[in-house]
Amino acid sequence: MLVVSEMCLSEICIPAFVTDIESRAVVDAAKSAGARQVYLIQEPVAAMIGAEVDIAKAKGHMIVDIGGGTTDIAIVSMNGVVTSHTIKIAGNAINRSIIKYMQNHYKLLIGEQTAEKVKIGLCNLYDPSDDITFIVKGRSLLKGLPSQVLLSETELFKAVEDDTFSIMEAIRKVLEDSPPELVGDIYDNGLLLTGGGALLGGLSHLISRTLDIKCRVAKDAINCVAKGTGLAFGKMSSLLDGFESAPVYKYR
Ligand SMILES: Nc1ncnc2c1ncn2[C@@H]1O[C@H](COP(=O)(O)OP(=O)(O)OP(=O)(O)O)[C@@H](O)[C@H]1O
Ligand SMILES: [Mg+2]
Repeated sequence: MLVVSEMCLSEICIPAFVTDIESRAVVDAAKSAGARQVYLIQEPVAAMIGAEVDIAKAKGHMIVDIGGGTTDIAIVSMNGVVTSHTIKIAGNAINRSIIKYMQNHYKLLIGEQTAEKVKIGLCNLYDPSDDITFIVKGRSLLKGLPSQVLLSETELFKAVEDDTFSIMEAIRKVLEDSPPELVGDIYDNGLLLTGGGALLGGLSHLISRTLDIKCRVAKDAINCVAKGTGLAFGKMSSLLDGFESAPVYKYR
């Protein structure tokens, strides 16, 4: 969630799936933080705007935002979310899988930061090689002493394969649950990846190959939601669905 304050106007990004009660809690929190007027924008809408995609027309666009805690998948059209799905498999879960793999296969205990370094430095989900390797340092579970292992791209792929395929399965589910006209548009427009997890090596190519749809990583993928939330201030009159004012809560 992201809060932008500008002269006591607050713009807050909420996941596409939050309930009315949850939205209300967000508005109350912003109000307690001193906001005079509060607007809520759904994250997929903000991410699309941040990625400079024109979502105002009656055309379908698909976004997959892979963050730390969640992967949010949505089909957006006419400035609003049509279908969405969220799974709790994203960057943190992938790190946990790497930690587990190192424990199970090498009896090497590594921390979150090491897993993050391995993920960023070695991940190749498209054409992993046995020859490209990364030194992973940790503590041997057998000896209790410092130890290191040479991990290959192929092994890392095996470690994160299940998580990656869960994300692709969720994408497939959203496509299945969406109106066919919009799915047809996505065949033309492709799928946009945002969030830090979009930078996983080879992910966009793997998605294209597996699901047979075009897939691209947004420019400045990590900051799309924040950027789009800011840009939404300039589109307040047109973003009726995705940028609802909450006048009930206006400060009096
Ligand atoms: N180059 C990279 N390759 C792979 N993963 C990366 C890279 N850079 C960042 N990440 C991952 O992206 C995740 C953070 O992404 P992001 O900042 O979009 O998340 P968030 O918005 O804070 O989380 P959420 O949307 O779940 O609330 C972390 O899990 C991090 O490991
Ligand atoms: Mg996020």
